[in-house]
Amino acid sequence: MDIFRTKSVEQSIRDTEAPEHQLRKRLTATDLTVFGIGVIVGTGIFVLTGQVAKEMAGPAVAVSFIVAGIVCGLAALCYAEFASTIPVAGSAYTFSFATLGEFPAWVIGWDLMLELALAAAVVAVGWSGYFASMLASIGLELPAAIAGEDPVVNVPAVLIVLILTSILVAGIKLSSRVNLILVITKIAVVLLVIVAGLFFIKTANYTPFVPDPVATPRVEGLRAPLMQVVFGITPVAFGVLGVFSAAAIVFFAFIGFDIVATAAEETINPQRDVPRGIIGSLAICTALYVAVSLVVVGMQRYSELSTTAPLSDAFISVGQSWLAAIISVGAIAGLTTVVLVLLMGQTRVLFAMCRDGLLPRSLGKVHPTFGTPARLTILIGVVTMALAGFVSFGELAELVNIGTLFAFVVVSIGVVILRRTRPDLPRAFKAPLVPVLPIVSVLACLYLMFNLPVQTWLRFVAWMLIGVVIYLSYGYWNSRNAAPWQKARR
Ligand code: ALA
Repeated sequence: MDIFRTKSVEQSIRDTEAPEHQLRKRLTATDLTVFGIGVIVGTGIFVLTGQVAKEMAGPAVAVSFIVAGIVCGLAALCYAEFASTIPVAGSAYTFSFATLGEFPAWVIGWDLMLELALAAAVVAVGWSGYFASMLASIGLELPAAIAGEDPVVNVPAVLIVLILTSILVAGIKLSSRVNLILVITKIAVVLLVIVAGLFFIKTANYTPFVPDPVATPRVEGLRAPLMQVVFGITPVAFGVLGVFSAAAIVFFAFIGFDIVATAAEETINPQRDVPRGIIGSLAICTALYVAVSLVVVGMQRYSELSTTAPLSDAFISVGQSWLAAIISVGAIAGLTTVVLVLLMGQTRVLFAMCRDGLLPRSLGKVHPTFGTPARLTILIGVVTMALAGFVSFGELAELVNIGTLFAFVVVSIGVVILRRTRPDLPRAFKAPLVPVLPIVSVLACLYLMFNLPVQTWLRFVAWMLIGVVIYLSYGYWNSRNAAPWQKARR
């Protein structure tokens, strides 16, 4: 069995040059940075900040953001090199197909579902938190059974996914102008939190900056980080270990910079601008996150932060409900675009997999009237709705993180392999210090992965095994790369 058959870099690039498949090249480095910030800034900062500060890191949550930002920075350099060498849509899936082969590419494509569809569900749940908070601020309390911290079915989350899926099916292009307005609103709200919040900081809230470690039932058993179980350390929350475990969770806030790489094909000068877009958006987001988290834990004692809408609730706690309302509206607008882009990214990756024959080609059929892969979009929408409606927020986010970190590991390894196998390819952007930097990137990602709960690992492994079974029983035989006799056997 040749499960490592590859699709050459040249072939991947040629595929994009066929006139009927050519995407328009229009984007610049600034467009990419705006797009990046639009996808990156979301639930991570608007929701997880509160949850993580309250349960794991205390005021030191800002340090957790820095740690996660550094790990992402290392991976970002690897993504940038790849995107400048293979400027083709499809991100990690395409990169792996060109370097590691079909099976690893399938594994990554399968894994990316955790990053994209699942993340869309998580952000929809975050959206619902702010939606409920906004309604509450005008005196409309949603029943606990349909919204809030532990609902039976998270109705607003399901509805937003339903609406956005319909938009994607109908093919209404979210024009870059609308996107720009939503991104500006979101960033304005983030800056508002930072600037207005400064006036309400009580320095006493910063002590202790790193709360003493406490053994907590929340992180025992399957909820304990793998690291602590492997090394036999008693699971604790807070303390220095807590700050690092928290980094593995707030990592979620940075997810999306890799999606910038998927726009390479539509960029005027991808070799120069994609690396700039990726690294620029990541740097700006890291600065914003550190500032916001420092302000929020300064405004309200970490133990009292809200776990569903911490930024707006911090303003309610200091008697500024009107500011809280503005923040909720901005968060709702901003989170909507994140869900939309994640769903769209998911459709694109699965579309590429259907085109390569690794999933049923009929699933990726383009709708005659709408011109979109309607079946696929509806399927993804239904799955995302089910997840957003019924699964708990934190657990979903952890699974997204492990999936994304795994993709980063593979991309980092891929950079080293491609340097060896194809030293001749023109690389407009080269990650510095190869192979040291990619190796450090792999280790840093693995370190964060080890800080995730045992339960998350078990779910991740189970998901990947399902993927392997599907590949061996379907994808391998139906792939466009399969030999004719293999296809005939089916
Ligand atoms: N980084 C994105 C968010 O935080 C996924 O919502």
